[in-house]
Amino acid sequence: MRYSAIAVALVTMLALAGCQSMAETTDPSETLYQKLGERSGIANIVEDLLYLIVEDDRINEQFRGVDVRQFHTNLTDQLCELSGGPCTYSGRKMRESHSDMNVTDTQFNALAENLILAMEQNNIATGAQNRLIKKLVPLYPQIRNL
Ligand code: HEM
Repeated sequence: MRYSAIAVALVTMLALAGCQSMAETTDPSETLYQKLGERSGIANIVEDLLYLIVEDDRINEQFRGVDVRQFHTNLTDQLCELSGGPCTYSGRKMRESHSDMNVTDTQFNALAENLILAMEQNNIATGAQNRLIKKLVPLYPQIRNL
C-alpha cells in the first residue's frame, strides 16, 4: 500500500533523528496526551510548527492568506483529540480542507518533518513523537486527496 511506504519513511526518519533523545525518561503510566504536555503543551508545539512552516519554502506558499489563529486552534484541537486528550476537533474534514491544494508527498513529509522538529524543540521524547506521527498516517490519503 502506498501510504504504508510513507509510514515506513516517517518512522525511519524518526529512528534516525531519535538517538539523541534516548536518555529521556519514559513513564509508562503517562498517556500520549500527557507526554505531549496536555493541551497547553500541544498549543506550544503547534505555535513552533507555524514558525517552521513560514520558514519552509517547500510549503509556505500554500499557507499564504490562511487565518493563522484559526489554524492554530484547529490543529491544536485535532492533535489533542488524536493523542487521546479531552478536546473536540471542530474544523473541517481533512479531505475538504485540503481538497484544492494538490498536496504532494514532499509537502506532506515536509509538514511531518516540521512537526517532528517542533516536538524536538519542546523536548518531547522520541517515543511520543513516533506515536503522534503514527496517528497522522491515516490522514495521508485524505490530505493528499487520493
Ligand atoms: C499530517 C499532515 C497535516 C495535518 C494533520 C493537517 C491538519 C490541518 C488542519 C487541522 C487544518 C484546519 C482545517 C480547518 O480549519 O477546518 C488544516 C488546514 C490547512 N492545511 Fe493542513 N494538515 C496537514 C498537511 C498539510 C500540508 C502538507 C499542507 C500544504 C503543504 C497543508 C496545508 C493546509 C492549509 C493551507 C490549510 C488552511 C486551509 C484553509 O484555511 O482554507 N496541510 N490542516
